[in-house]
Amino acid sequence: MRKKIVAGNWKMNTTVTEGVALARAIVSKKNEVPEGVSLVVAPPFTHLTFVAAALKGTDIALSAQNCAYEPKGAFTGEVSAAMLKDAGCAYTILGHSERREYYGENSAKLVKKINLALDNGLKVIFCVGEKLAERKMGNHFEVVGAQISEVLFTLTPEQMKQIVIAYEPVWAIGTGVTATAEEAQEIHAFIRKTIAARFGEAIAEETTILYGGSCKPSNAKELFACPDIDGGLIGGASLNADDFLAIAKSY
Ligand code: 13P
Repeated sequence: MRKKIVAGNWKMNTTVTEGVALARAIVSKKNEVPEGVSLVVAPPFTHLTFVAAALKGTDIALSAQNCAYEPKGAFTGEVSAAMLKDAGCAYTILGHSERREYYGENSAKLVKKINLALDNGLKVIFCVGEKLAERKMGNHFEVVGAQISEVLFTLTPEQMKQIVIAYEPVWAIGTGVTATAEEAQEIHAFIRKTIAARFGEAIAEETTILYGGSCKPSNAKELFACPDIDGGLIGGASLNADDFLAIAKSY
């Protein structure tokens, strides 16, 4: 059975005080989440140590939202994979569409980042997804296939076992428009098939594939009922503990 995950990407939101309060609120009601659903929270870098303390003794995992593509040194403003591990992270998100769009994150950089993250004992939530124009032209399989092959196909099978994939159609992120369960299932199945073609059926079957993009308590149940959707990467709705937990309880 592959792992079910509901992960909250807080993006550039909350102060440290607010973030710790949010983490504590999630911890206080974690017992409502069905067994077998793992929770992950991804606060901003400045919050990590404090949120790690708030999560201590629970099985809620801490994630970063990004990491540097160099291991250390004169890279002003960057945070390394080793620092994230040291701060208590179990995961880092990599390749989020906002990083691809606004910070020039391309596959070459992502290959470096993913290797550094894995070398430092972090699991990776690797994001893929097409833009609206690409979907409209019917190119979404091609786009997502290339995002996967250019980065994940460079990994060894052992490394691939440490990867969670998040399919996040850019047109659904923060827009209130969700992919329908059919649209999401179709491309999740394609992603699993793509992984199987390179790494074999067994690894593909074990790979957790999350859906992200305007996922909320009202639509999570339908999305999570799809056979190839193994949870969600939640943006806006993860900033409210009750909404985040309601999504996790949709299983
Ligand atoms: P929203 O849930 O706010 O649409 O964001 C999704 C996302 O980008 C998570 O990484």
